[in-house]
Amino acid sequence: MKTPGGSDAAKRRAGEHAAERVTDGDVVGLGTGSTAAHAIRALGRAVDDGLDVRGVATSYASRDLAREVGIPVVGLDAVARIDVAIDGADQVDDGLALIKGGGAAHAREKVVDSAADRFVVVVDPSKTGPELDRPIPVELLPDARAAVRRSLRELGGTPTLRTAERKDGPVVTDNGNVVLDADFGTITDPGALATDLATIPGVVEHGLFVDLVDEVHVGREGGVTVRRA
Ligand code: 5RP
Repeated sequence: MKTPGGSDAAKRRAGEHAAERVTDGDVVGLGTGSTAAHAIRALGRAVDDGLDVRGVATSYASRDLAREVGIPVVGLDAVARIDVAIDGADQVDDGLALIKGGGAAHAREKVVDSAADRFVVVVDPSKTGPELDRPIPVELLPDARAAVRRSLRELGGTPTLRTAERKDGPVVTDNGNVVLDADFGTITDPGALATDLATIPGVVEHGLFVDLVDEVHVGREGGVTVRRA
């Protein structure tokens, strides 16, 4: 398993590189997390310089940051389309399947990222590898905790309730739900597992993103590598 949390310089390069591809008039999906935040800040600077964009946030955190840096924020329901979404990931495999949800925002992220004409993922090299092997975040209705745990075990996973670091009790998502991180070891068929997870009653959304990505921008010491689907 890869260790999360690569260098901030690499994250910044990836985020700023993706933001440079946004053009005048675009509606932009604003991802969640430290790498997407670099893209949001870069877009804010571009707005200061006259770029005309509107942002659709994937979380309260990305909405607040966008407002702070001067990006006009609109609701998903208020726009006919999203031109490009820029979002981070916890892991990317060679087939460009993702694990997302380290920030527990994957439900709204999946709605916004999959609605975008172009979904651009921004990561540092610590997130990339041949296969996915990190636990999969599963957002669920709080009352369904025991039942969803059982279903995840039946699928071969080991679920752990995500708890808040400095508070007693579970992490609560922007949608008022809780998260189980389900460890499936190395995931050989992300598409099949994604389908199985989606059919569990009580699951609101899981963090496997399969066949959604258009580009992955990997920030590195010497620049940015772009991988395309
Ligand atoms: C939030 C996410 C994030 O995009 C993911 O956790 C990556 O975060 P970071 O860029 O801080 O490493 O999926 O739900």
